This record gives sequence, C-alpha cells and structure tokens, in this order.
Amino acid sequence: MTDHFTDFDSFGLDDFSSFDDPGHEAGALSDVEDFGSDVGLPNGAALAVVDNDQAVRDYLAQQLGQGVATAPSLLDLESRFGMSPIVVILGPSCVDPTDLAVVERWSRTNPEVGAILVTSELSTTLLHTALRAGVKDVLTAPIDQMQLVDTVGRVAESLGSMPVPRPMMAGSAPTMNELDDGEPGQVITVFSTKGGSGKSVIATNVAVALARMSDRPVVLIDGHLQFGDAAVMLKIQPQHTVVDAISQIDKLDPGLLRDLMSVHEPSGLLVMAAPTEPTFADQITGEQMVRLIEMVRSIAGHVIIDLPAYFNDVVLSLIEASDHIVLVAGLDIPNIKNVKIGLTTLKQLSVPLEKIQLVLNRADSKVKLDVAEVEKTLHIHAVAHIPSDVVVPISVNKGSPVVLSAPRSEVAKALEQLALSFLNGASARPMSAPGGRRLFKRG
Ligand SMILES: Nc1ncnc2c1ncn2[C@@H]1O[C@H](COP(=O)(O)OP(=O)(O)OP(=O)(O)O)[C@@H](O)[C@H]1O
Ligand SMILES: [Mg+2]
Repeated sequence: MTDHFTDFDSFGLDDFSSFDDPGHEAGALSDVEDFGSDVGLPNGAALAVVDNDQAVRDYLAQQLGQGVATAPSLLDLESRFGMSPIVVILGPSCVDPTDLAVVERWSRTNPEVGAILVTSELSTTLLHTALRAGVKDVLTAPIDQMQLVDTVGRVAESLGSMPVPRPMMAGSAPTMNELDDGEPGQVITVFSTKGGSGKSVIATNVAVALARMSDRPVVLIDGHLQFGDAAVMLKIQPQHTVVDAISQIDKLDPGLLRDLMSVHEPSGLLVMAAPTEPTFADQITGEQMVRLIEMVRSIAGHVIIDLPAYFNDVVLSLIEASDHIVLVAGLDIPNIKNVKIGLTTLKQLSVPLEKIQLVLNRADSKVKLDVAEVEKTLHIHAVAHIPSDVVVPISVNKGSPVVLSAPRSEVAKALEQLALSFLNGASARPMSAPGGRRLFKRG
C-alpha cells in the first residue's frame, strides 16, 4: 500500500495505474447517493474527488477507499450531487480563481458541503485565498493517507455548522488591514475548579464588554476544547475552529488568523471557537495552544480565554501564559472547597498571586454563605461580585450576553465593571492570612 503521494510535487504522473490497488476503480458520479454508506462518513456524507486530471483524481480516490465519486470539474459535480451532505477533495487543478469562486458560493449557500484542497505547493497567499473561499483544510503533498482520511472525517463531522454568510464578511470587526500591531495584548483566562460556576457567562460578557470599550481588537478564544459553548452563547456559527488554527500553526500570520476567527457582529468581538467534536481536543497540545495565543495577542489588545473546570496540559499551559486569571467561584461549600484546592494547585505551580482575580458569581443568592467569610477562607479578596439574576439564563438561551440584552441589570453592570478593570490594568488584592502570612509568596 502506498502511504504517501510522493510524486505530488509535479503532478506529472504518467501512470496512476501503477499505484496500489490497481483493480480498484473510483466510483462514477452516478454512485453519489451510495457514497455515504460505502465510506461510512459521519452525517451520512458523500465523498467526492475533483480534478481535471483523471490520474490524479483516481489516485486520490484510491487513498480514500471504495465508493468515492470523481468528477473532472466542480460544476460537473454540482450538477449531480444536489444539496446532500458531501465532502469534496479538490485536487491541485482546482487552485484556480474560477474553481475557488465556486467553492466560495457553495460555502456561503450550503453548509452541508465541506471542501478540502490538496496542493503540491502551498504559499501563504494560496492558504489565505482557500480559507477565505471557505475551504475547510489545505493539505500539501506528499499526502499522508491517514492524514487525508482523518481530515475527511473531521470535515464530515463539521458539516452543517458553517455560517451563512461567512463571518469574515461581517462589517463591524476589524479588517485585516486594521488589525492591531501595537503592544502585545493582555491575556485573560477565565477558570474555575468547579464546573458550571459561570466561566463561559463571565468570559463572553467580559469579552463583549471589552470589545465595545476598547479601541483595539478583542479576541475570545474558547479553550474548553471538548465542550466549549462560547460560540453558542454568542449565537455564532463558526466556520473555522481552534483545530483549524492549530493545524495551520506553522503558516499562521495576522491575516490568516483573522480569517480563522468569527465575528460577533453586535460588538465586533473576534471569536475563535472550540472544535465541533470533543475528540478533536485530543490532538491539541499545550505548547501549540501557547503558540497560538502568542500570535493572537500580537494582533489584539485583549485575549480572553474561556477554560474548562479541570487541569490538563492545555489548561496549565494557558494559565501560565496568562497575564490575568479570573478564578470564578460560586457561593456554596463545594465551590469554595474546590476553589481552595485550585488556589493551592496554582500556588504549587508558582502562579503569582497578582495574576489571580477572584470573582464571586451569584454572590447575592439567598444562600447562607457570607462573602466576607468566603474571602477569609480563601485568603483573597474578590475583585467582583456578580449577582444571581434570571436575566443570565435568559440571555444564554437567546445567545445574547447580558451586557447587551439586559444592560441595566446589576449583573450586567458588575460584568462591565470587571471588564473595565482590565482596560485600566487589573491586579489582585491579596488578603493577609491570620498572623499576617500571605497565602502565596509574591513574584
Ligand atoms: N450570575 C448568574 N445568575 C444566574 N445564572 C447564572 C449566573 N452565572 C451563570 N449562570 C447560569 O449557570 C449556568 C452555567 O454557566 P456557565 O455555562 O457559564 O458555566 P461554566 O463554568 O462555563 O460551565 P462549564 O464548566 O460546563 O464550562 C448557565 O446556564 C447560566 O445561565
Ligand atoms: Mg463553560
């Protein structure tokens, strides 16, 4: 079995029949309706290869197994597959403005089409053009068969989740030319050791409030790679996710980064969404995420990262790379117990106390715990008390943060105030522990 398409550089392959599995013939276009079941793609998606060179398209089809449609042109394919879910592998002949315009039209009008471009030579310009046209991924020769199969699976999983119109067309966010080239932005992670404590509510509202207040770009990154819901809370259907950014990490530049982010139109916030499938999270390392964050902060004034409620390689790396850690605690005993454990862990990791901003969420609930008692137990003053208010779940369900949908509520005012503290340069207010001892050593 040939694992690599080693001769992709030229695409001057005279005899594709010399490749493996000579008995296999790629499916005819009339097979399209059966493809989903043959290749077993998620969402019952069909799979097709398009290239004007028959040898190239047959070779690519062979890499993907039985039942793959082939077509000499995108328009030919289009006339046959209708609106059914389909993953289309674009061969190198499709690196052409006319073909990419067809892909762009598909991606705008039909979220059930996922295109993957295979090219012999990848330039930054081509990558930009392809991603802007809505291509989900670009693979460069030599093609690794497993990589191709994985990419097809990933794109098939994401079908139906692409936005119309594409986010890069939105008006209020900065364009590539307007991207910030000032001082590296502040990185703010929103973390808790207790699930459901309100991290995503706080991260999305603070990010939106900052985007409205700041004259520099503000980016929200969903770092809850398995079950991130920041995009849902902002009613955004992301075209690209953190996975796409990580897979292009070596080629990222400001323009490309911008193309991979979605725009929250009411505020101009740029959003890099979590992967569409929890399993994609396994492919991402802490080191890669830190590289991504470093690039994002180079084009933004503030980068807000919504995290899950556990420590792992990615979470620890992001916490270490942050300027501020918003530590969210609810006002009940399990919350306080877990936050105390979290603080101890952060201390063991030598995270400076100055970075930590304790935020008490649902601080006015009719619960028995007293804020002052909680602060005393944790040996740290809270920088914000966010009240409990039914407007929050209502706003979550509407996909419109409270700072926009209920700006006069106390909860919105508290979140605005928290955002403002980051514009003005936030710092933690450590509390003297009994006997004058601080919980953490400074520095
Ligand atoms: N101040 C508040 N008042 C009322 N409800 C709130 C408040 N903060 C959060 N909630 C509710 O709590 C629920 C959980 O909030 P959220 O999703 O932000 O938690 P999370 O910490 O991000 O959870 P996860 O650990 O699963 O990521 C949401 O449904 C939200 O409506
Ligand atoms: Mg969350």
